[in-house]
This record gives sequence, structure tokens and C-alpha cells, in this order.
Amino acid sequence: MKILVVGGGGREHTIIKKIKENKNVEEIFALPGNGGIAADATCVQIGAKDIDGIVAFAKENKIDYAVVAPDDPLVLGAVDALNAIGIPCFGPNKAAAIIEGSKVFSKNLMKKYGIPTADYNVFTNPSDALEFIKTAPLPTVIKADGLALGKGVIIAEDRETAVDAVKSMMEDKVFGESGSNIVIEEFLTGPEVSVLAFTDGKTLKPMVSSMDHKRAGDNDTGLNTGGMGTVAPNPYYTESVAKECMEKIFIPTMNAMNAEGRTFKGCLYFGLMITEKGPKVIEYNCRFGDPETQVVLPLLESDLLTVMQAVTNETLADTEVKFSDGHACCVVMASKGYPQKYESGFEIDIPAEIADSVYVAGAKLDDGKLKTAGGRVLGVTATADTLEGAINAAYAKVNQISFANAYCRKDIGQRALKALK
Ligand code: AMP
Ligand code: GLY
Repeated sequence: MKILVVGGGGREHTIIKKIKENKNVEEIFALPGNGGIAADATCVQIGAKDIDGIVAFAKENKIDYAVVAPDDPLVLGAVDALNAIGIPCFGPNKAAAIIEGSKVFSKNLMKKYGIPTADYNVFTNPSDALEFIKTAPLPTVIKADGLALGKGVIIAEDRETAVDAVKSMMEDKVFGESGSNIVIEEFLTGPEVSVLAFTDGKTLKPMVSSMDHKRAGDNDTGLNTGGMGTVAPNPYYTESVAKECMEKIFIPTMNAMNAEGRTFKGCLYFGLMITEKGPKVIEYNCRFGDPETQVVLPLLESDLLTVMQAVTNETLADTEVKFSDGHACCVVMASKGYPQKYESGFEIDIPAEIADSVYVAGAKLDDGKLKTAGGRVLGVTATADTLEGAINAAYAKVNQISFANAYCRKDIGQRALKALK
């Protein structure tokens, strides 16, 4: 089989390495991939948002199956376009991808179907939003409606910050049309849990839970990033929480999308907060999370491509999705300065014996040498029987990798470890 994977980060590298385990796979193309992914797939310089380019490539190269991993192409309708030329895909169609593409849609969906989430108001013009903010309880949470590279959420502790957030989104359009409408919602507290789930619209099978570490600095200080590391499973996701999520959130969400005529097929990501009043949805994503994928898929014992095809063929009910009982930890190595200014172009040295567990996010090949080319450069994952063992093994691998200006958090997994004790 010839497989096409759209995307080019650590998540895509993880998916590709896992798909490669299937014996029927002859060749994998990554569009656009990256310098590290090039070791596992044929990278082609077609951008993930270039839907026409992706479709033309898929047709010309007689692709048998495509995986569309990032949010942008999904929301733009890459799956619809590939299906239209007869190529089966993993990922939701455009109508279903709106669950991530529009926060107004997802909040209204949850309200309509009684799925627990933060209370909220939708604003379509800045004057109403500014008026509301004058008396809103603080902190308050301001979210751009559309995709904003993960930066569209502002938690305002004071009114001045809230006013600035509304003005920058709605008037200055820092996120373009994504900020034309906004959601202002109640601030929730509690531990966060990420749960990715396979669903074909009839059946939903959650994957092992995970915990992201979004802030740049140790002890959750500093700026928000795309994710500095993950562990799985997440100790806050107890059996009783899992049961409650399945009954009150996961299945109702699948059913709600069906009822709206927007059947979701693919990986549905639930960003949850375990509040005193039970689990609530912070956000939905229409795709695998990054860097959650880097800890979840290494624990998957079933064949990934088989499960993906079952989702496409709507036979997930008859397909085993089995995870190991072990633990995984992924530490992201970034360029010093990320998520702000950083330098690139430094040679990366990865010993061959650990290359299997290194997922490259931001690197390019230059004269055959792998060099840094992004804020988050790579993720290193280790699995073990215990969380402590996984953390130690991941950091031991980190110490074997070198590039100039490398930075990583030293405390990935520590919060989870404390929660376990
Ligand atoms: P998002 O970009 O939607 O993942 O949101 C980024 C982060 O903002 C989340 O991971 C939460 O930590 C935080 N957040 C979002 N919504 C809320 C909320 N209603 N209350 C508290 N924190 C929130
Ligand atoms: N790790 C959060 C996300 O993928 O959106």
C-alpha cells in the first residue's frame, strides 16, 4: 500500500513510524514532512494547506490511503477533496472538523446537547463584548472563534487585559477572521486531562489518557507553548472519571455530531478539566494532539493502520484497540528562546540506537546533515512499567542528543508523579 500523511511535525513523525509497522505498507509520503521525517518517509514539498496540491499528488502517485493529521487541512476540507477522487482517508470531513474550527459551534453544540463545559457568551461585535467585560467575573477566558495556531485563548486576570484581548482579536484582527467572533467564558480550575478517541460515528474507543505540559518553564511557569512534553496515562483520569466522561461527554458528543448531520470519523480530541463538579470540556480538537500522540501511540499495541482503516470503513466496533499497561513520557527539546525569538540551523546529533523513539518536529536536511529549523525541534519518548521509569529513561535519552542552544523542561511528569503518590 502507498500511504500519504499530510503534515510535518512530531505528531506526524509518530504516526508515520507507527504506520510503518504494518507489513502491507510499501511506501509512505509525507506532505511536507521535515528533515527528520525523511528518515522514515518520502517528504514532498507540498504544504499541508495546499489542498489542490495534495489532491494532485495523491492522484498522480496512486495513493491507497491518506491520513490528514493537522487541523488546518481538515478544516479546509482536505478529506472531502481526497474522498472526491476516491481516496479513503483517516480524518473528519469539513462539516465535522468544525468542532475544532469554530469555538462558537462547539460551545453551542455542548449547550444544546447538555455536555458539561464552562458557561459562556458569544460576541459578534466588540462593543457588546467590551460592555460585558465591565462586570464579568475575573479571571475571565477570551477565545477567538476560529483556528489561531493554538494562541487564540487569553486568560485575563484583570479588566485591562480582557479589554486588550477583545480589541486585539475583534478590532486589530491579530488572528484574522478567526477573531471576528469570540467566546467569553467562565474560568474553571482543576487538573487537565487530554483524551484522544477513535470514532467512526457509531462506536467510540478512547485511547490511553495523557497530560500535556504547555508552559515553557519548569513548574508550569513562563509562556504558553505548543507543548513541552507529555506523559501517559494521566493519573487524574481515574476509572470513575473515565466512566463519567464516556457517559456524559464522549458518547453524547458523537451522538450530537450525528444528530447535527456532521458525523465525525477520525480522532476526536477531548481537552478536559476535572473540576469539583466533575469533568468538563475545555476544548475539542478534530485530530491527534501534539505532543500527546508522542506518548499515546507508543503505548498502542494494536496495528494503527488497521484501526484507522476500521474508522474509515465504519467497522471500529469489530476492531480491537489495545493499549499496554505501561507508562510513557515524552520530553520536547526546543531551541532556546522558544516560543519567542530563537536561532536555527544547528546540527543535531541523534545516536542511531535511540532514533526509533525520537520524533522530529522542526528540523531540515542541509547537505545530508540534520539541522534545527524550528522552535520545538524534537520529542524523545520512553516507555516503562512505571511512570518514574519512563521519565528517567526519557531524560537519559535526552542527554544523548545534542544540538547548540537546546532547551527542555526538567520536570516533565513530576506533577503526575506527585498525583500518583
Ligand atoms: P486551548 O488553546 O483551547 O487549548 O486553551 C489553552 C489553555 O487555556 C487550556 O489548556 C487551559 O489550560 C486554558 N483554558 C482554556 N479554557 C479555560 C477555562 N474556561 N478555564 C480555565 N482555563 C482554561
Ligand atoms: N497539545 C494540544 C494540541 O494538540 O492542541
